Amino acid sequence: MSRTQEGLEGIKATSTRLSLVDGTAGRLILAGYDVESIAPRAKFEEMAHLFWFGRLPDKEDLESLKRDLASRRRLPIATSTLLRDAAKTSTPVMDAVRMAVSTLSLGRREAPEEEARTLLAAFPTIVGEYWHLTNRREPLEPRGDLSHAEYCLYQVLGGSPKEIDRERTRGLETYLNTVCDHGLNASTFAARVIVSTHSDLVSAITGAVGALKGPLHGGAPGPALDMVREIASPDRAEQVITAKLLRGERLMGFGHRVYRTRDPRADVLAAAAGKFYATKGDRDFYALARQVEKTALRLLAEHRPERRLDTNVEFYTALLLHGLGLPKELFTATFAVARVLGWTAHCLEQLRQGRLIRPDAEYIGPVGLAFQPVSTTTAPN
Ligand code: CMC
Repeated sequence: MSRTQEGLEGIKATSTRLSLVDGTAGRLILAGYDVESIAPRAKFEEMAHLFWFGRLPDKEDLESLKRDLASRRRLPIATSTLLRDAAKTSTPVMDAVRMAVSTLSLGRREAPEEEARTLLAAFPTIVGEYWHLTNRREPLEPRGDLSHAEYCLYQVLGGSPKEIDRERTRGLETYLNTVCDHGLNASTFAARVIVSTHSDLVSAITGAVGALKGPLHGGAPGPALDMVREIASPDRAEQVITAKLLRGERLMGFGHRVYRTRDPRADVLAAAAGKFYATKGDRDFYALARQVEKTALRLLAEHRPERRLDTNVEFYTALLLHGLGLPKELFTATFAVARVLGWTAHCLEQLRQGRLIRPDAEYIGPVGLAFQPVSTTTAPN
């Protein structure tokens, strides 16, 4: 019998044309393009075309996809009602997003390709509506005249197209492109498992949201920002981080299951953050975070010399999204806004390749126990 590989580490469970994560070289390829070359330059809609159709769009394809996505932004009434109820009971954002996503199929049956578009278009509206409701404001009207990245900013920050400035849009678009897919990560695997039973995409994405929200996956950037805030000044970095490591805490934004070197996405987002903070945002905070990173890397190397623990995508996600003005409470939900592209593309690929995912488990419990019915073992009264 073959050995159990806990966590499925190193196991190739499927094949994909969507992304290659080379953990040794620290390289990420998104549908053929190195992340460094495509993420800072592409429109998110171009990435969507690339992931769903296997090639970049021409001008006409791009305009048509943009129009189609823009026409799918309004939520069904049931979804908005659920978000209103969730806000009344202070439901955590990712739980509200998960429940809202599951209502998107209410009264509607779509082909998988259509579901993919509906899901991608609806995510920013779900997050934006919920954010306004939890802050006791009325949600904003969906708008069809903005690109996907502009629309994400509009939904959360509000404002006129003029206020949705180019630097912010480019910063967010680079973020969305950088994290839109990443091999067979836990949430993508969850989505593929669900759709491998020939279930629908809404079910698969609902499950994926549940997987993403855990702190070992998509829940790290909020705590990473908290750590920088807690440190507050560069001369406290050593003391605060040492204390955390001595308490056995993990430093959020460091370490990775696959990368044994620096996460290439961290470099792309560091460059985007550097560019953004050069013109806008709190530069002192940016300088502090850079110092925190340096100290954390040094202390992690001393703490665990046998295990290379480097900066991962979440550290710079926290810095970039914070600089763009997004609230910390929405960091993981913004990750979902991006990753829904990868999830849907993987689901479509899974449906095409179509083998039910059904691994084995090594049974380590007892065997041959003699069953005693309850009636013979309980005392008579
Ligand atoms: N800080 C301190 N110690 C760490 C860290 C860290 N960030 N990461 C790993 N270690 C330690 C860990 O405690 C373990 O020690 P021990 O063997 O004594 O328990 C050892 O290093 C090996 O860790 P592991 O749990 O085998 O590593 P893994 O491959 O299962 O975990 C990880 C990868 C990302 C879950 C982990 O590095 C971690 O918890 N990092 C902090 C959370 C984080 O930043 N998550 C975002 C991941 S990137 C987003 C994505 O791609 O999904």
